[in-house]
Amino acid sequence: MGLNRREWMGAAGLAAAGLAAAPGLARATAPTPVNLSLNENPWGPSPRAIEAMQAHMSRVTRYATPETLALAELVAAEAGVSPDRVVIGAGSSPILRACGELMGRPGSELLTGAATFESLYRGAAERGAEVVFVPFDAQMRFDLDAILDRLGPKTCGVYICNPNNPTSTAVDADRLRAFAIEASKTAPVFIDEAYIDMMDDWPKSTVMDLVREPHNIIVCRTFSKLHGLAGLRIGYAITPPDMAADVRRKVSSGGLNRLGLVAAAASFQDTAFREEMRLRLIRGRNRMVEMAERLGLTYAPDPKANYLYVRHGMKNADFVARMDAAGVMVVRRAFPGFDAWNRICVGTDAELAACETALKSVLA
Ligand SMILES: Cc1ncc(COP(=O)(O)O)c(C=O)c1O
Repeated sequence: MGLNRREWMGAAGLAAAGLAAAPGLARATAPTPVNLSLNENPWGPSPRAIEAMQAHMSRVTRYATPETLALAELVAAEAGVSPDRVVIGAGSSPILRACGELMGRPGSELLTGAATFESLYRGAAERGAEVVFVPFDAQMRFDLDAILDRLGPKTCGVYICNPNNPTSTAVDADRLRAFAIEASKTAPVFIDEAYIDMMDDWPKSTVMDLVREPHNIIVCRTFSKLHGLAGLRIGYAITPPDMAADVRRKVSSGGLNRLGLVAAAASFQDTAFREEMRLRLIRGRNRMVEMAERLGLTYAPDPKANYLYVRHGMKNADFVARMDAAGVMVVRRAFPGFDAWNRICVGTDAELAACETALKSVLA
């Protein structure tokens, strides 16, 4: 790509911080590397979201209480609950973190899968909980039966990510529903549906209906993935009635970003956009599977989200450095216990072509 090492590091760092397109910064470091590291949607956002932001540009002098309520009402109506059960955060990460902190206590155990998204369990661990990483089943999915077996008096919470980050594998909605009802008799069950709308059988794949019943179950979604609004930072959870106020207090002390809220609301209602993104992301995922097959790469089977978890077979730091040198950013961190694996996300056709070329040279 004709970049020396310093230029490359600069470009990679800026891209990782989401700043590659910032005026005056990108010029010095272009061309930007292909960034397939953060499970974003390369085709977002919805034109309706952009229009909504434009309409609110001059209104940002005001705090966004009405816009917060409006978004809460929209998502509550879809889930069939009252808006006071909705917690909106600057992305779903702070909500995950807050729920983990509320669950954890010294001497307790937070149960989750062998490798998964960290925010919730880190929050619990910070409050003294031990995180129990229950091994996956043979298909690298959350082993729900094994998690049920681990439930006990010490259990302070259960975190299920479906589809899971980083494996992209998913458990069946009916099985998850039965599991969650059972497990929530012992401890709160948090179900993270960040990528749920990318599943082939969406909307059958969701278990959001569980929040209509009086279970100790929280279901969380984000506008960062399918909606393509990662940089605006809006996510939400629907919690049991007695939990919403506690979580809300922890996540939104000063209120939320008005442009993010109106963009999220517009995107949420843009059903044509949502369906188009769904199909594009699924098509991208299928292309990645074809690529992995062509390259003879092992990957976590039956992926359902906009990324593939591949086994590169080397130290992850080496893989990341070699992919960097080949012009493609992949996720920097390895998940504990999975150092020979990396998660690569969907890009445009050109980005996937660049990824295939990079992988060929890195794995040769
Ligand atoms: C499973 C999962 N949950 C939640 C998030 C948090 O996303 P955000 O904070 O952008 O809503 C991510 C982001 O990668 C994720 O993979």
